[in-house]
Amino acid sequence: MTPSLLATAYITAGVLFIMSLKGLSHPETARRGNLFGAIGMCVAVLAVAIQVGLATSPYVIVAVLLAAAIGAVVASRVAMTAMPQLVALLHSFVGAAAVLVGLSNHLSPTAELVGAEATINHLETILGVFIGALTFTGSVVAWGKLQGVIRSKPLLLPGRHLLNAAMIIACVWLGVVVVGGGGPALPSLSALLIITAISGLLGIHLVMAIGGADMPVVVSMLNSYSGWAASAAGFMLSNDLLIITGALVGSSGAILSYIMCRAMNRSFISVILGGFGGEEGAAPAGGAVMEGEMVATSAEEVAELLRDAQSVIIVPGYGMAVAQAQHAVREIADILRSRKTQVRFAIHPVAGRLPGHMNVLLAEANIPYDIVLEMDEINEDFEKTDVVLVIGANDIVNPSALEDPSSPIAGMPVLPAWEAEACIVLKRGRGAGYAGVENPLFFKPKTRMLYGDAKKSVEAVLALLKA
Ligand code: TAP
Repeated sequence: MTPSLLATAYITAGVLFIMSLKGLSHPETARRGNLFGAIGMCVAVLAVAIQVGLATSPYVIVAVLLAAAIGAVVASRVAMTAMPQLVALLHSFVGAAAVLVGLSNHLSPTAELVGAEATINHLETILGVFIGALTFTGSVVAWGKLQGVIRSKPLLLPGRHLLNAAMIIACVWLGVVVVGGGGPALPSLSALLIITAISGLLGIHLVMAIGGADMPVVVSMLNSYSGWAASAAGFMLSNDLLIITGALVGSSGAILSYIMCRAMNRSFISVILGGFGGEEGAAPAGGAVMEGEMVATSAEEVAELLRDAQSVIIVPGYGMAVAQAQHAVREIADILRSRKTQVRFAIHPVAGRLPGHMNVLLAEANIPYDIVLEMDEINEDFEKTDVVLVIGANDIVNPSALEDPSSPIAGMPVLPAWEAEACIVLKRGRGAGYAGVENPLFFKPKTRMLYGDAKKSVEAVLALLKA
């Protein structure tokens, strides 16, 4: 491939990646954005394979086809609710790849470098290995927490910040050894392997210290780290496209993490540093004693309430995704709207299990975008609303986030469902939300519980409304 053709392919792929990110920023254009990204990646992989003369290698062809087939099967089978785990796992692959590229670059550098060039090359390797190992182990722990294999409660070791600082200082010192070429007592390869091990431990420790409700921010932080790891690998391999792509992923992931931190009233720095400055040993509110009692209701009563309501806000949460109730919910919204009832959906930034989870489900059910409002746009309207339907949501409507400073979710903005005239909560039983915290909303005098699988409950109400 001629250099100009290669440059054209790289620029095309880069532009497609930027268009992909732009498209993914809105539900209406997200599908197109995804397509741009996929085409860009095909162009990029093909261009690199041709450039390095591997496009016709049977090993590469078989490996790519096999990986593509595995990826297609896994992606098509994964439940929407299990998507964050898959994303975390994919981030771990990027981290592992950066470590492997770093180690192989150290063992057999692509060119004989001397002086400043050699130092820069060493620094690229050290950074790639450090970020890569941290991303790898951190993502595996995030996968474990999201999958429920590792408990989501934060692991707060005594003096954990000192431990983190000691690990970072050790890596810096070992990095100096690597740049200096090592010595008989500590060869540079050994120093690099120790950096890999320490940064791997650091990744485990940082993510273990994060509590359940903050996991969304961590997943998006790891997304960002995986981008920077890829970018570092791009420097090592002198591949411009990998540098650009890594930087795009790294910076967009960092921006998303920042936005999510702001939405959840969390300190960005605190989350990056594994909960630095958080409430040391804050008492989990899981066992807090609730005042009042949970009062059950029936589909008939809910249908009656909805018939009489002038305004309704629907708050979808993780349970709606599990139950796949979104289509029946849309039908209820259609019926109410045809009766001139004002119906709106309130979306919390971390509802469900991945950013935009609820928007995707509502879009899939063809719910018009103009009645789907973000938390900031609708929070003030709850007190003027007749009925709030909380469908499979829990943490995002938990008043203890605002009222109980010892709660693990203290400070997180929530949707004030309790301010409406009536609040109906659809859930199966007394199960806690993701953060494992009791929810005083369920015990408030204006709240009624409609127990059962969300889809079955919504369908029962729908049947009554139709009748
Ligand atoms: P959750 O707090 O997880 O609560 C979901 C509730 O749905 C549970 O209490 C459960 O109670 C109920 N439920 C489960 N299956 C159901 C079904 N089939 N039918 C009816 N109800 C069902 O959900 P949320 O309010 O959406 O909050 C999201 C939480 O996840 C936050 O803590 C957030 O930090 C965390 N998180 C979010 C993300 C992103 S990026 N969105 C990623 C990772 C974690 P029962 O068992 O009693 O039915």
